[in-house]
Amino acid sequence: MHHIILGSETDFDGWRTTARALVWNDVTPDYVTWTVRDHGPDLSEISTAKAPFEVPEGTFNVPAKFVELAKAVILHRDAERFALLYRLLCRLRRDHDLLEVADDPEVARIHAMAKAVHHEVQRTRTSIRFREIGREHKSHFVAWFEPQHHVVELAAPFFASRYADMPWSILTPDVCAHWDGHAVSITPGISEAEMPAGHRLEEIWQRHYAAIFNPARLAAKKSRNPPEALTIKPTSDSATPPEPAMIRRNADSLSTLREEAADCRACHLYKHATQTVFGQGPQSAQVVLVGEQPGDKEDLAGKPFVGPAGLMLDRALIEAGIDRKKVYVTNAVKHFKFVPRGKIRLHQKPNTPEIKACRQWYERELASIKPDLVVAMGATAAQCVFNKLTPINKNRGHLIDLDEGIKALVTVHPSYLLRLPDEEAKAREYQRFVEDLKIAADLLRKRAQAAA
Ligand code: URA
Repeated sequence: MHHIILGSETDFDGWRTTARALVWNDVTPDYVTWTVRDHGPDLSEISTAKAPFEVPEGTFNVPAKFVELAKAVILHRDAERFALLYRLLCRLRRDHDLLEVADDPEVARIHAMAKAVHHEVQRTRTSIRFREIGREHKSHFVAWFEPQHHVVELAAPFFASRYADMPWSILTPDVCAHWDGHAVSITPGISEAEMPAGHRLEEIWQRHYAAIFNPARLAAKKSRNPPEALTIKPTSDSATPPEPAMIRRNADSLSTLREEAADCRACHLYKHATQTVFGQGPQSAQVVLVGEQPGDKEDLAGKPFVGPAGLMLDRALIEAGIDRKKVYVTNAVKHFKFVPRGKIRLHQKPNTPEIKACRQWYERELASIKPDLVVAMGATAAQCVFNKLTPINKNRGHLIDLDEGIKALVTVHPSYLLRLPDEEAKAREYQRFVEDLKIAADLLRKRAQAAA
């Protein structure tokens, strides 16, 4: 029997190295047990150095998809995961296409586990709320969170880039992640008995974590995102942090998000726009339509797609058989960007920093609605939906998988149709736009039939 002790709950490298050696030595899964060392040294010291078998030079190939799945599954809380992955690895050696067998119970199980982990990463991103502890340049931001899976280390870089200029800690029962403006560090979790309540949160934070921060480093950095730009609302100017229950939150309702977004200062666009134009539509929408940014009319009305592009969109939706009242319509950027020209406000395309700064709202809208389909209309919307530059023509007209079973559809922006000078091209392109929307209508029909 081989008793493997991994270095940590998230020790993918350790699992991989050991599993490879075990497979090479034809150790059947029934002869292996997997556990995790509490807070001990790295796995490599334990499982491979003491492994009673040779670690070969060569490699054997497993599908890249398995490696991707395994990296996610390792973060699942199910204690069986290491053994399950090892069983699948052994089976993959005999059947390279095993992962394509969707109804194989073990294949289905690792897919479901990977999905649950991705979902939890997303929930972490959208649920964590930092609260300020201390004041002014001595302040730190702390969030309490209880992840369902071991995703804190994976999620930490996201917070490091979003909240680059403030020192923060994410405290969880498993591990705690800290950002000092320079690097993420990980310390052991806080036990349930130690869980902070009220002023205890600050006490614990100061006792355990304050030492790892170097405020001078942060003070020296020019603030790109002042805290108020990050929708972080300290409870008061007192140093007393809130109860953990106030910190922890699930996906917010659309009305809560709308309220929060009304004060958004994440980029400079709020300065000249009339108001935040948040998305509009039912919480139960199965389709989310994403445009670029509000135009002049939308900025004044506070509603998306109510101007000329909106009229064009309404017409195309009707022709495609989609009821606008049942879809959620939003924009990648939620403030109007323009330059004044006499009495006119001339639309300006949002740039990448503006799109990135605003993406938190799209993410939170998506987490709140959990639609079946997101339709990205135009390049800015596509950049927001895929979180990278995404060419329209190459990607338009077919369904693309996003995380968590959500599909995406890329098409043109209705204002592109308005700008076409030639009537024939306009009619042709309009028809293509309607055809794209019909793909969305078709998906909705199929999902409704499947649910019936
Ligand atoms: N264009 C957009 O992208 N969104 C609107 O809301 C209006 C015009």
